[in-house]
Amino acid sequence: MITEVRVSPQGKPSYSVIISETADFSYLIPFVRNKQILVVSNKTIANLYLLLLENVLKEHCHQWQLCLLQDGETYKNSVSLDYIYETLLRQNYTRDCELIALGGGVIGDITGFAAATYQRGVSVIQIPTTLLSQVDSSVGGKTAINHSLGKNMIGAFFQPRLVYTAITFLKTLPAREFSAGMAEVVKYGCIVDYNFFVWLEKNIDLINAHDPNVLCYAIAKACELKAQIVSLDEQEKTGVRALLNLGHTFGHAIECCQNYVGLKHGEAVAVGMVMATQLSHTLGNLDGKDVSRIKDLLKAFHLPIEIPALIQKPDFIAAMLRDKKNTTKGITLILLDRVGQAYIENNFSQQVLEVFLDCYFGL
Ligand code: NAD
Ligand code: GLY
Repeated sequence: MITEVRVSPQGKPSYSVIISETADFSYLIPFVRNKQILVVSNKTIANLYLLLLENVLKEHCHQWQLCLLQDGETYKNSVSLDYIYETLLRQNYTRDCELIALGGGVIGDITGFAAATYQRGVSVIQIPTTLLSQVDSSVGGKTAINHSLGKNMIGAFFQPRLVYTAITFLKTLPAREFSAGMAEVVKYGCIVDYNFFVWLEKNIDLINAHDPNVLCYAIAKACELKAQIVSLDEQEKTGVRALLNLGHTFGHAIECCQNYVGLKHGEAVAVGMVMATQLSHTLGNLDGKDVSRIKDLLKAFHLPIEIPALIQKPDFIAAMLRDKKNTTKGITLILLDRVGQAYIENNFSQQVLEVFLDCYFGL
């Protein structure tokens, strides 16, 4: 079973997202033939899936090398990035080389950024191995590393040449990581597709049982919705793409306050989505029943919905104020009118936000 979604950012070459039930890396042969290939991964993923890829690379590419990074969000930083550059330079990788990101969103984001910047830009193929990276981070060309003062603060828009997803990768994914990915899936239903939200509500058990047909549909749907949004606003200039950040301003602040070692990104986004929907309700936009439906769906996928203890309100607000969507005019938030319809609030009052946050942090 293979599904293909086309991503067509305006003025850029379009590319395919291939969603296959099994991992058949022979699909990559035309993309790697006679090229210099650098595979970026980490030990956890390489131990599981490198051998399969290696068989194709050994036979078909000109030269290949593995660059192993440390595993975890804390290593999505300039030190790891420099290690990729150093590997490329020491082995004389030229401008026509190809980078392959074999891993989750951390590997995908940092490899994408290395590709965007090495010799002013070389090709990159994304092979996403977590649910989160399959439904979100590998598609659409956002690449980045974190800075100690803020998440994804250094980065570039840089589209891959191909995204190759295999559902079989999810068999080895820890349950908590699977849930984290479901937060981003639920997000698509909340922001743009009410029918998909209802479909998710109806398919909770099959999704939690990892039914391959159901997972294939959910991943393809998420990629399709993301492709549509990216084709309208690749560089997040008109506000359409910003809708994909529902819950992210709150979520990134949680991650930052926990030094990236507390909640996982998808978990923090789940809590952030609950905060954004609660705020939408407080502002009189979203019906209380919709807040409950969103909370229930996130809980059904075993996601947290409460802000973690020990985070201090001043640190939380400071982190929110550093969000990339903010402008000189103020804080930007993504809020909901109803399930399936998000909107962007560009100039949100800091005072109103501080009062709202009192219900989470106390007075
Ligand atoms: P991750 O990359 O840290 O992967 C989670 C864990 O799962 C890691 O320990 C990894 O080694 C392991 N793993 C990966 N695949 C596995 C497999 N098949 N079997 C067993 N273990 C496996 O986390 P993530 O949730 O994939 O990505 C989070 C990152 O993605 C964050 O940095 C976030 O900012 C970024 N992100 C980027 C975008 C974007 O548009 N670029 C969108 C959403 C999130
Ligand atoms: N994950 C948000 C985006 O790609 O825009």
